[in-house]
Amino acid sequence: MDAPSRPTYIVLLGAPGVGKGTQAALLEKALGIPHVASGDLFREAIKQGTELGRLAKSYMDRGELVPDEVTIAMVRQRLAEPDCQRGAILDGFPRTIEQAEALEAALAEEGKAINVVLYIKASEETLLARLAGRWTCRRCGAVYHSLFDPPKEAGKCDRCGGELYQRPDDTPETQRRRIQVYLAQTAPLIDYYRRKGLLVEIDGEGSIEEVQAELMRAIEASRSPRRQIGDEPEAN
Ligand code: AP5
Ligand code: MG
Repeated sequence: MDAPSRPTYIVLLGAPGVGKGTQAALLEKALGIPHVASGDLFREAIKQGTELGRLAKSYMDRGELVPDEVTIAMVRQRLAEPDCQRGAILDGFPRTIEQAEALEAALAEEGKAINVVLYIKASEETLLARLAGRWTCRRCGAVYHSLFDPPKEAGKCDRCGGELYQRPDDTPETQRRRIQVYLAQTAPLIDYYRRKGLLVEIDGEGSIEEVQAELMRAIEASRSPRRQIGDEPEAN
């Protein structure tokens, strides 16, 4: 797909483990705009040992959301960086209505707007199977799965050679809590964006390649001149 000529802001919405991070990394390559993941920004802050990292860890370890105020400030700062001026693929943000309103306001200040919200759906059984086998690179954050997307060499990142680890918030208990928190606090965004005519539902049950192809089709359709922001929502 050609690089977008005007800024393109894509939101990936979906439950923990549905594949947002996996897909965002592929979209970053295909579209040439950065992958901005609030969870990755928090994990980086934890690695750096900053005050933000310490605060975020206390929530993440329990599977709870980090408070809106700090999350919004962190993502706004990231979106103000030069590489995000042509757009971004947002993964894991927004996660509450307050975050969604703050994002909209921040983009509007610069005459920008979200182009499309891609809502990736999968059953709880699928989510838990994906989370249980996930391995993440300690150095570059690349994501693998022991069965569905294994690294060439066990324990080692294909991309950078870094060590693979299992996220501390991937204990069975925290996984379940993250799914509950998603249903209570993030799922309302589905209707929020549907009402704005921005939501496209994506079947997340397929292989990584199948989901990627469906996402690319939806992005292509959202760029069609027939469908501009502010149009009436499309019938589903
Ligand atoms: P975050 O890091 O965003 O975690 P999450 O939403 O719980 O989502 P995950 O990263 O677990 O799943 P994913 O959808 O990215 O799936 P992945 O691609 O890895 O947030 C962590 C914590 O940070 C939160 O709990 C909260 O405390 C805090 N936080 C973050 N953002 C916040 C915000 N905005 N506000 C407040 N707090 C915030 O895939 C999962 C596995 O499945 C991988 O192993 C992958 O290889 C495999 N896989 C992917 N796709 C497929 C497929 N199609 N078929 C087979 N396997 C697949
Ligand atoms: Mg993720």
